[in-house]
Formats: sequence, C-alpha cells, structure tokens
Amino acid sequence: MDNKIKTLNDKLALAKLGGGQARIDKQHAKKKLTARERVMYLLDEGSFEEIGALVTHRTKDFGMADQQFYGDGVVTGYGTVNGRLIYVFAQDFTVFGGSLSETHAEKICKIMDMAVNVGAPVIGLNDSGGARIQEGVRSLGGYADIFYRNVQASGVIPQISAIMGPCAGGAVYSPAMTDFTLMVEDTSYMFVTGPNVVKTVTNEEVTSEELGGASVHSTKSGVAHKTSANDVECLEDVKQLLSYLPQSNKEKPLDIPFEIEEEVRTTLDDIVPDNPNKPYDMHQVIEGIIDEDSFYEIHKDFAENIIVGFARLGGKSVGIVANQPMFLAGVLDVNSSTKAARFVRFCDCFNIPLLVLEDVPGFLPGTDQEWNAIITNGAKLLYAFSEATVPRVTVITRKAYGGAYDVMNSKHIGADMNFAWPNAEIAVMGAKGAAEIIFKREISKADDKEAKWKEKEAEYAELFANPYSAAERGFVDEVILPHNTRRKLIKAFAMLENKEVVKPQRKHGNIPL
Ligand code: COA
Repeated sequence: MDNKIKTLNDKLALAKLGGGQARIDKQHAKKKLTARERVMYLLDEGSFEEIGALVTHRTKDFGMADQQFYGDGVVTGYGTVNGRLIYVFAQDFTVFGGSLSETHAEKICKIMDMAVNVGAPVIGLNDSGGARIQEGVRSLGGYADIFYRNVQASGVIPQISAIMGPCAGGAVYSPAMTDFTLMVEDTSYMFVTGPNVVKTVTNEEVTSEELGGASVHSTKSGVAHKTSANDVECLEDVKQLLSYLPQSNKEKPLDIPFEIEEEVRTTLDDIVPDNPNKPYDMHQVIEGIIDEDSFYEIHKDFAENIIVGFARLGGKSVGIVANQPMFLAGVLDVNSSTKAARFVRFCDCFNIPLLVLEDVPGFLPGTDQEWNAIITNGAKLLYAFSEATVPRVTVITRKAYGGAYDVMNSKHIGADMNFAWPNAEIAVMGAKGAAEIIFKREISKADDKEAKWKEKEAEYAELFANPYSAAERGFVDEVILPHNTRRKLIKAFAMLENKEVVKPQRKHGNIPL
C-alpha cells in the first residue's frame, strides 16, 4: 500500500507543478500568478476540490507522446467564495502555453455541465495561447463544445470570465458569450487576429496592447466590463461581483445583513443645479440613494453617458441604469444603448430588480449615429426594458425628453413605479426648441422676435417643463422630494418583492441585433 500511496502522491505533486518550476518562474517574472495560485486566491481557504488533476492529452503527433503534463493545461474544480459554491477553471500557461486541447476542453465542459445541473456560477480564468496547434481540428471542436455550453448556460447560471493573459483567435468567443469579462491591465489581451495577421491583411502596425489590451477593450470596444491593475485585484473584483448575484436563475440574490442607515438623505436635495443646462454627476445621486459604498460599476469607462452597475438598497441587490449628464449631457447613443441593454437583460435573467435614474435630453443626433444604426441599437434598450419582468422602478431626476422618455423604463413599457423629482421636465423636447417649432409663424410675425420667442418658451415650459402633466395622467406615480428617494425606493422594491409576470408561450423573442 505504501508504494501505491507514494505513486499517487508523486503524480499529484507533478500535477501541482504544471509545466515545471522554470516555466512557473517565467510566469511570475511576467507579474502573473499561476493557474493554481489564482484558484487558491479566488476560493475560500481550504475549499478547493480539484476535478481531473491527472488528465493528460491523447496526442501522439509532433513528439507529443513524450510531452505529458498532468492536468493538460487547465486546473478545474469547485469550491466556495464567501461560503457559496462556484465552479472554476483556470488555464495554466506553464503547460503548452495554456493552449486548448481536446482533453483540456473536456475538463472545462465537465465542470460547466455540473454547474448547470447544480445551479452555481462558473468562473473562467483565461490565460492561453489558443487552440493547441498540434491537435488541429480536435482542438477547434473542443472550443465549439465550450461555446455551445456557454450559450446553453446563458441565463441559467452566471458566467464570469477573467482574462489574465493571452486570449486570441476562437478563444475569445467563450468569454464573449459569458456575462462579464474582466481584464488585467498590461498582462492580458484579446483579439480575433493578432498583430502579425493584421499587418499582413491591412498593413496596419499595432502592438498586442494597442490592438486588444485591457484599456482598449474597456474604453473603445466595450468587450471588457472591468479592468484591474493586477491578478489579485482582478480576483477580488470577481469575488465582489459574485456577491450581488444569485447562484442561478432559480434563486434571488443574497441579502446582505444590513445595518440600519439613515433613510432620509438630505445630500440629494442639492445635487441637481437650478439651471437645467448645467451638468451634475449622477454618481452623487447614486451614492445618495444606495447603501454606503455598495456601488459596483460595470463598463465604467465605456459609453460614459450612461452608468450601469450593481448596488444594495436596504441590503438587497439592485441593478442601476442611470443617465450621466456629465457626458454628452446624458444622451442615448449607440454605445450607451447597447451597454445598458445588455445589463438590463442580465439583471432580468437573474432576478435582480432594476432601478433607473433618468436625466435624458434625447438621442444623440448626427450621421455618425444614424449610419451606425442608432435606430436598431436604441431599439435594443427599448426591447430589453420592455421584456424585463423583474421589479422595475424609475426616478426622473431632471429631463425625460422625447423617445428617450419612453425608452428609459417608462410606465408605458412596463415599469412598476415611476417617481419624479419636483424639478423634472417631462416633454417631447426642451421648451426653447419646442417654441421655435410650434410658434414659428407667431414668432416670425412679431416686432420683437426675441421677446416673443422667450414668451412662448415660457408658455411651453409652464405647461410641460414639470412633472405634473405626467403625474396627472398617472405616467408618474408620485412626485417626491429628493431626500425621500431612498426611503421611497426601499419601500417600493419591498412592495414589489413577490412580483410575478406570466408571459405567453414562445420560443424566444427577436431582439433587434
Ligand atoms: N499550441 C501549443 N503550444 C503553444 C501554443 C499553442 N497554441 N501557444 C503557445 N504554446 C507553447 C509554446 O510552444 C511554448 O512552449 P514551451 O514552454 O515548451 O516553450 C509555451 O506555450 C509558451 O509560449 P511562448 O510562445 O514561449 O510564450 P510567449 O509569452 O512568448 O507568447 C503567445 C505567447 C500566446 C503570444 C504565443 O505563444 C503564440 O503566439 N501562440 C500561438 C497563438 C496562436 O496562434 N494560437 C492558435 C490559434 S487560436
């Protein structure tokens, strides 16, 4: 028996070493943790149970029969984060560059299947040179097996991808189909074709970082939802993100025991300037409403004219979508619409109530927007809100103009409660523009055109630049004082807690993509 125990221990010790100490040192020299170190950091101490530590590849070509590493370039298993079960896979760059072989893919698929059957999140820690070149199509098949599972698991269990090294070629499509993609600055990149292919095909010269680094994907493409300075921060971000989410679509998010906080927040009274053309930071409104320090922003540096993220309100998880008057006056455009639509759909999949803070002057005009399909993209947000059945509450903090009023979680498209602050302006457009159009003839005939314009502008403002016309029709349920907003929201979401909507049977809707 002693011999047999020794054999097992030797094998497990080899598995722990991955591609060997020299390659581990190389990984550390790049300021990266190894796959195993990442898993250990992510999970609660002592909770990791490995699955498939002794798996090896089956390739014989190109001398591969002589190159065997236990685990085959990916550490897989389960454990807990803050006491809650998760499944994890971490690609091991020290073994064939973390490249994906048939068996490597099988290991990932195995834990994905378990996660779906059990109902717990899957976290993927990606660090890979892509398809195992020595395996050809078997490797590509492995990717497709994962992609297929990503889609089947979508909306069933939360799927989070952390990109902690290379992620290129077909490999990018698994993270792309998960719910959130987090990237580590300077050490990770994602692209469909690398700099060499780009140079050959388009003659552009770019570095990996310029083409698909964390900063590019968090600001320009929106592929990355969050970035962090290093591996440890990235893993902390994953843990924090998990705290807002339920284990699966069958559950509600966890309530975090909540110390009674002041429900009246007077800071909210002084945020919106008297001059409706002056910007203010919607983050201040968010902080004024939510439980202290509970905001977890998603896509912080992408499409900054809309803010999305998770927070807690009275200890309960909510998804926040808020126009940001500090950027482009908070207009809706292509990127902000798709950013918010995806977030709304995620929250709806996973029973996370939606809070919308609205100050929107309309859609961004221009050829750039029209040619980039603001019609289709704006429709995504309208569609996403309209199909969402989670509790949905809107607070109009200032402007709610035009079609954007309808889109931003109006009562008409299924919002449950719609509050407005007394300074809210709910109209087809601003008073100045409206007066110019509907009183054009009258103004042009006047001796003092400027004075007439002002008079008509005031007339329009009197009628519509307020929340009362909407409140009279019930489009606004209540006009509330800003300092009462937190209290009103806690009560409204508590009232909506057991909301249930039964939809007619259909295969699926046809969201404008
Ligand atoms: N298949 C098999 N082995 C791979 C691999 C792949 N796709 N990618 C990397 N490796 C191996 C390397 O042969 C090397 O092996 P070694 O440790 O025995 O020397 C090890 O992984 C590390 O790769 P290396 O190139 O030394 O690391 P790097 O940090 O300098 O570069 C990459 C990393 C990812 C940029 C580079 O390895 C690369 O370009 N890989 C191929 C990417 C690709 O085209 N993938 C297929 C299409 S999806």
